Amino acid sequence: MPDVVARVKNAGCLVLHQVGTEAAARMAEAAGADVIIAQGIEAGGHVHGRSPAFGLAERILAGTDLPVVVSGGIATGEGLAAALAIGASGVQCGTAFLATEESFAHSYHKSRIVEATGEDTVLTDVFVLNWPKGAAVRVIGNSVTEGLKGNYLGHDPDSLPRETIAHDDDQPRLRFSTDSPLRTTTGDLEAMALYAGQGAGNIPDVVPAAARLNTMVAQARHILKGPVRNGFTAMS
Ligand SMILES: Cc1cc2nc3c(=O)[nH]c(=O)nc-3n(C[C@H](O)[C@H](O)[C@H](O)COP(=O)(O)O)c2cc1C
Repeated sequence: MPDVVARVKNAGCLVLHQVGTEAAARMAEAAGADVIIAQGIEAGGHVHGRSPAFGLAERILAGTDLPVVVSGGIATGEGLAAALAIGASGVQCGTAFLATEESFAHSYHKSRIVEATGEDTVLTDVFVLNWPKGAAVRVIGNSVTEGLKGNYLGHDPDSLPRETIAHDDDQPRLRFSTDSPLRTTTGDLEAMALYAGQGAGNIPDVVPAAARLNTMVAQARHILKGPVRNGFTAMS
């Protein structure tokens, strides 16, 4: 990893490395990463570790002077304010920006995120074709995950059938693959990997990305400057 980090930095880029454990954070720092992204189990898409985001971020913060960013389930200014309050430098959001007008995700995927509650997502490694065994993802529960009868983890890609359920232009998309539906996808979109974090329950609409960002920042500013809901006043 140090060689890759050095190559990227030599090309003038900042290296933000996403981790799911403290050990991985230490390795990323030793390899020369500039920023550590602490990804929690709440996150949409591929999930690295099994710790909640804020607890993991706090533990990583305690062991490094690098900037730490919290990731997983964050879609609001409340989440951003909470991250800043624990000493993190910011947040990384995936699902909140998947459900924006600019995102190349299929409108079906965006509308499923808007309709979802935080409890509608599951962590499963059944969407694994094209990826190594055990690579777990958080998705909105669908007909494929319902068919697992609660056995979400432990699937072997070699024992899964290869069945085309959709296409991207002329490219086949398989049931159990990691492909999610894009604007260009046609077919059985419901059965594809509908990536979403637990923050989906806090995403009420599809808006321009700038609007999502501005709302989050304004909410966070309001919380950090003003009296908070339980009557305590935030320190400045
Ligand atoms: C559509 C989608 C695809 C993702 N793909 C990857 C991936 O290939 N590798 C990875 O490390 N994380 C991946 N992630 C996770 C993000 O890097 C990030 O940790 C996550 O989106 C944060 O959680 P949130 O979606 O609840 O905001 C993906 C997330 C989404 C929503």
